Amino acid sequence: MSDAKQLYEKYMITSMVPAFVPIVVEEAHGCTYVAADGKEFLDCFSGIAVTNAGNGHPKVIEAAKKQIDKLVHCCTYVYYNPRAAELCKVLADITPGRLQKSFLSNSGAEAIEGALRLAKQHTGRKEVVALTHSFHGRSYATLSITGNWARKKGGGPYMPGVSFAMGPDPYRCQFGTTNDEDCAQAYAENLRYTLKYHTYGDVAAFIAEPVQGEGGILVPPANYFKYVKQILDEQGILFICDEVQSGFGRTGKLFAIEHFGVEPDIMTMAKGIADGFPLSAFIAREPVSEAFKPGDHLSTFGGSPVSCAAAMANIAVLKDEKLVENSAKRGEQIMGRLRKFAASCKLVGDVRGKGLMIGIELVTDPKTKTPAAEQTAAVRKALREKHSVLVGAGGSWNNVIRLQPPLCLTEAEADRVCTAMEKVVAEVAKSI
Ligand SMILES: Cc1ncc(COP(=O)(O)O)c(C=O)c1O
Repeated sequence: MSDAKQLYEKYMITSMVPAFVPIVVEEAHGCTYVAADGKEFLDCFSGIAVTNAGNGHPKVIEAAKKQIDKLVHCCTYVYYNPRAAELCKVLADITPGRLQKSFLSNSGAEAIEGALRLAKQHTGRKEVVALTHSFHGRSYATLSITGNWARKKGGGPYMPGVSFAMGPDPYRCQFGTTNDEDCAQAYAENLRYTLKYHTYGDVAAFIAEPVQGEGGILVPPANYFKYVKQILDEQGILFICDEVQSGFGRTGKLFAIEHFGVEPDIMTMAKGIADGFPLSAFIAREPVSEAFKPGDHLSTFGGSPVSCAAAMANIAVLKDEKLVENSAKRGEQIMGRLRKFAASCKLVGDVRGKGLMIGIELVTDPKTKTPAAEQTAAVRKALREKHSVLVGAGGSWNNVIRLQPPLCLTEAEADRVCTAMEKVVAEVAKSI
């Protein structure tokens, strides 16, 4: 067997981010990762919120294998690709509001690039407004609209015509209020201010994640998107909802924007769309979708028949096995328990999220809310080494533990995660 660690260092650009404390993953099933040495771990990060139906779900694998035997590739935009067409119908059926026609691509960043281009073509305008703390990918345009400075350092100068409004963060509300409604209004007004003073009045689209993932699982106040949409509609600006991380049941609804009762004009999807097979899409309502004429926008691998077959099986599994409902239930279970624990542990500043998109923000002092990045890394390491639990970390200061397990997590597994978290966080809290 090859030594993955050595090969990484010798042959792979960027190798491994040291803070990740990686294991060599040889196999994965459901919520279990099996390392090369045979040791098993409870997966609470799903390959960054991808394997929502569970790692290697048998029905998804079966659908992909069946498709491989028939057709692997034909290019969706030169020949009729029946699996791609069938998937686009399914996406129209399950996405909110009037979203109807999809374009299929390969990664989140590629879907967002296409969505931006469509918005510009439809409106005839050139500017984009995004949010601070946001993350939209690592291509030139998507880094340009990413508000998370840690993720974009060293890559500039970036695309012109991009402005940032303040990303809503109720825990660290920049407007000094703890009232959800006041917070919603203040952040929405900040968007109005940004449109007025930071743009030259030619804005095609506003793009936002309904729940910011890489930014530290930031859940906006309840009415934020309603106020935002009113402002956008007044000014003829399209709302691109980036559901790349929050989609496909992750937040306890099929799409996170459903929590906020707002209809996007364009929505982007990737990650959880096909349980690990590479695929992404953006979907738009009419007449926005009609702005691209045949041939305007193409992707060689986009809409791979194998990924599309896997995606349809994945979406059926989410429904048949009630995994979206389970995501909501397990999320309440975990957040309920960890909030009780947080009340007596000063290292935990905030426990937040929706469904199985959960952030636990660690701070060295609850009054100053000083980010506890070192302690976050220590918690993550101890969870892995002492309890065989794998979690993510994120946030603008790397001080948020991210729990984003496959949506098939059982009640007992959720309890195991909470027990491990409580023990490890209490231990690490002794050092502050
Ligand atoms: C909200 C969001 N948008 C876009 C992306 C980029 O997706 P990809 O890495 O597939 O290009 C990510 C990746 O983490 C994301 O979380």
